[in-house]
Amino acid sequence: MREHPEDVAGVGDERLVGRTALVTGSTSGIGREVALSLGRLGAHVIVHGRDAEAGAEVVDAVEDGVNEGTAEFVAADFADPEAVAALADATRDAVRDDDADDGGSLDILVNNAGGYFREGRLTDLGVEYTFHVNHLSPYQLTVDLLDDLAADDFHVLARDREFERRSRSVRAPCSRRNSSIRSARESASSRST
Ligand SMILES: NC(=O)c1ccc[n+]([C@@H]2O[C@H](COP(=O)([O-])OP(=O)(O)OC[C@H]3O[C@@H](n4cnc5c(N)ncnc54)[C@H](OP(=O)(O)O)[C@@H]3O)[C@@H](O)[C@H]2O)c1
Repeated sequence: MREHPEDVAGVGDERLVGRTALVTGSTSGIGREVALSLGRLGAHVIVHGRDAEAGAEVVDAVEDGVNEGTAEFVAADFADPEAVAALADATRDAVRDDDADDGGSLDILVNNAGGYFREGRLTDLGVEYTFHVNHLSPYQLTVDLLDDLAADDFHVLARDREFERRSRSVRAPCSRRNSSIRSARESASSRST
């Protein structure tokens, strides 16, 4: 039988029941596999993409009745800043827990959505499409969700190869923040000084 990615990564015994993960671009490909893995570990997975039909299929696959994982789909076009802001709002709604000390928080953010779009088109902001979808929108989303990420115990994974190289495995220690988080914090602090 084929080994699951979480077993290959050596985290197959982790339990993520009660944890919430947002996996951007999880209607297909790598993101879909990440969503299924997190679901098998018991997490509540926010499945994201533009294709609602594909999103529903992933939600069904997470909630296949075999594992404890649950899921919901949120659509957002990463070429549209308002849609990215709405995804952050929907994520906040999903993790809200009035009984929790912190009001509820996001435990895992996987910045995966993107691709290589060769058409050379621009988004409505006038930004080159691939750069906007692959870099600006994940940055916007991460900044928007910074205050909602579990304070001392969260993972942010990125589609960025340099980050992946530096983190060496999907088991990035909780204390290791990626470059998006670091630069988001730096720009937040320079804005306030
Ligand atoms: N596969 C590789 O060899 C490779 C190599 C280097 C980097 N990467 C990066 O790794 C990530 C996943 O790759 P993959 O091969 O799994 O890609 P994929 O199968 O094409 O999946 C891409 C995901 O991103 C979403 N997406 C694309 N454009 C979007 C947009 N404008 N707004 C919102 N969501 C959007 C898609 O959702 P919808 O279709 O539902 O919108 C889909 O869920 C990508 O960021 C890719 O650039 C992949």
